[in-house]
Amino acid sequence: MLSDKDIFNEYENSILNGIIFSKALTYTSFWNLSVSNIPIPVNIKSNEILVRVKAVSINPIDILLHRLSIFFIGSKTKVFCGDYSGIVLKAGDESGYESGDSVFGYILNPLSIKGTFSQYIVVNPKKSIFCDKIPKGMIYEQAASLSCVAATGYGALKLGLLKSKNSNQDLEGALKGKNILIIGAGTSVGSYAVEIAKKYMKANKIVVTCALRSEQRLEKNGADVLIDYTEGDLKNINEVLEFVKNNGKFDMVLDCVRNDSYYKYLNMILKKPNENGSFIRVYGVNSMNLFSTKLLSLILPTYISMKYWLLNKLGVFEFPIYTFKLSYDVTFKDVLHKMWERDELDTPIDSIFRGWEQYDLALHRVSTSKASGKVVCIL
Ligand SMILES: NC(=O)c1ccc[n+]([C@@H]2O[C@H](COP(=O)([O-])OP(=O)(O)OC[C@H]3O[C@@H](n4cnc5c(N)ncnc54)[C@H](OP(=O)(O)O)[C@@H]3O)[C@@H](O)[C@H]2O)c1
Repeated sequence: MLSDKDIFNEYENSILNGIIFSKALTYTSFWNLSVSNIPIPVNIKSNEILVRVKAVSINPIDILLHRLSIFFIGSKTKVFCGDYSGIVLKAGDESGYESGDSVFGYILNPLSIKGTFSQYIVVNPKKSIFCDKIPKGMIYEQAASLSCVAATGYGALKLGLLKSKNSNQDLEGALKGKNILIIGAGTSVGSYAVEIAKKYMKANKIVVTCALRSEQRLEKNGADVLIDYTEGDLKNINEVLEFVKNNGKFDMVLDCVRNDSYYKYLNMILKKPNENGSFIRVYGVNSMNLFSTKLLSLILPTYISMKYWLLNKLGVFEFPIYTFKLSYDVTFKDVLHKMWERDELDTPIDSIFRGWEQYDLALHRVSTSKASGKVVCIL
């Protein structure tokens, strides 16, 4: 990784007529993706910052957006990615940042030139889903890996608490005495949900489904009962029912992988909405393997989820299905800082790829859905 001094020298020597050419991972449509140079104006607005990106992490949505893209939708040249960490080269007077600050964040500008897999990016912190100074002791690779997935894990739990009308603004300790089930906790989103639920919201018992290889990590992060999803849904549901028999129904079920098999058992495992039970699913496509998923499923719900949604509207199925989509949340920053300062935040990283030549390996790793933690690229 370049030193900060080298970065400032490189930047100052590369500006030409108010423009700097930035190496970036770009595409125009789903059939191309390559490294090219894009012009970035350095005369930023007063509420913007110019950042030299040091690291990015790839999310499933980045890959899906690329696969969905057609040349006449969005910008002609589209830049890949949304998570980043880096150093502020130039800061507008009203941006709240200064030159030299280390920052990280998540931007969702689908199919635009404003992606983050780029040496230089211009960010409007107030219009980002997340943007902040990197906390002391956190390295760039960790910082690049956590904004999207940690904010999603937190936001989904928060939605569950709000829908159960069981919470006030401060969510610290909000799950005290409550048991929750997290389906697909081996995902990065699920992993953060486990640690936030246990360490920050103080959940009583957390039951998770994950593969054997994720068990140790999730146990360390706060999971109490671990169920191996590779043994099949039926066996899993029996184990969940066994837990319910001994401990009572769950207060919240959070599904990070959209496993439709659980709907028909919800009345046996989840407290009713009038007892403050809530069911939340994280928005996404219906298959975790991005090679085999149907892109249309990003837009259309599955037949089963549609059926249960309709049954709920007709009053036959008592559980509303809430889907969490990530958006700006003013409360997340504080939670993240508190957990980091208390040494409570584990930042799972699966692999780190260096330089501009290995992006296809990184993308492939995320697409298989076998990454155990985040896939980070150092730029
Ligand atoms: N709503 C939003 O705004 C938002 C934001 C971020 C992500 N998402 C969505 O949330 C999901 C998770 O994203 P992520 O980035 O956290 O994923 P990820 O880290 O790439 O997930 C990979 C992990 O998923 C687990 N997994 C794979 N297939 C599974 C299955 N069939 N059942 C249970 N677990 C399985 C595996 O863990 P083990 O096998 O080791 O257990 C694997 O290591 C994705 O669908 C993503 O699109 C939505």
